[in-house]
Amino acid sequence: MQSNRRSPGNLHVAIIMDGNGRWAMGRGLPRFAGHRAGAESLRRIVETAPDCGIGVLTVYAFSSDNWKRPPEEVDALMELLACYLASETERCLTNGVRMSIIGRRDRLPDSLRAAIDAAECRTLHCNLLELRLAIDYSARDAILGASACAGGEHITRERFEELLGGTRPVDILIRTGGEQRLSDFLLWECAYAELIFTNRMWPDFGPFDLQRAIEQYAHRERRYGAIPPAPAAVHDHWLR
Ligand code: IPE
Ligand code: IPE
Ligand code: MG
Repeated sequence: MQSNRRSPGNLHVAIIMDGNGRWAMGRGLPRFAGHRAGAESLRRIVETAPDCGIGVLTVYAFSSDNWKRPPEEVDALMELLACYLASETERCLTNGVRMSIIGRRDRLPDSLRAAIDAAECRTLHCNLLELRLAIDYSARDAILGASACAGGEHITRERFEELLGGTRPVDILIRTGGEQRLSDFLLWECAYAELIFTNRMWPDFGPFDLQRAIEQYAHRERRYGAIPPAPAAVHDHWLR
């Protein structure tokens, strides 16, 4: 049964789940053990997300540049993603989580494509949290694709956002693993995102870390190019 008594949060959080390989190697384990632990970490974060006010969670699972990795690692990741989708569907149905995938599908193995179709179709009606997994995703390719759909006509930002997948702008972008870069993730959607970088490797990133990130965000002032509202006296001084 889906728990639809609660209303979804209004934050869009995006996560670059980085550091699986280093987490594993630091423990003398193969890189794949890190990816498996990373999948567990994602499961815990998805469970906590609605309690943190998150309505949309977009996570970077496999970039279009990750095809450059050794074929054994790529194959293992494809299999892990298919298993994750299949094994999480029931839990998502119970918790009101709608799963969808962003990125190219035509280069994925059939088994993963089938798992995606099933997960998306079965959770379509869930509305507490939208979980978007970016697989074979490149923000630059997504922007090129949307531009091609626009067909050279002059369009508004709102229309362009629809062509890009129609989701709201990212409020908080978290990257684990210590690197401070975007690696071709949600370049348009992050135009005014608050960036949070942490040295914690993704398999070690837990619900407490997510809560801390949300608290950090709550202390940031989002100005969107404007200036902060000033007390009336200061305002009058500048107008005189
Ligand atoms: C992120 O972890 C997962 C994927 C890119 C699939 P990495 O595999 O990049 O881990 P590090 O950065 O090598 O530690
Ligand atoms: C970004 O991590 C992609 C994912 C987390 C899926 P990478 O490890 O591939 O990024 P770079 O190579 O360090 O920029
Ligand atoms: Mg990495």
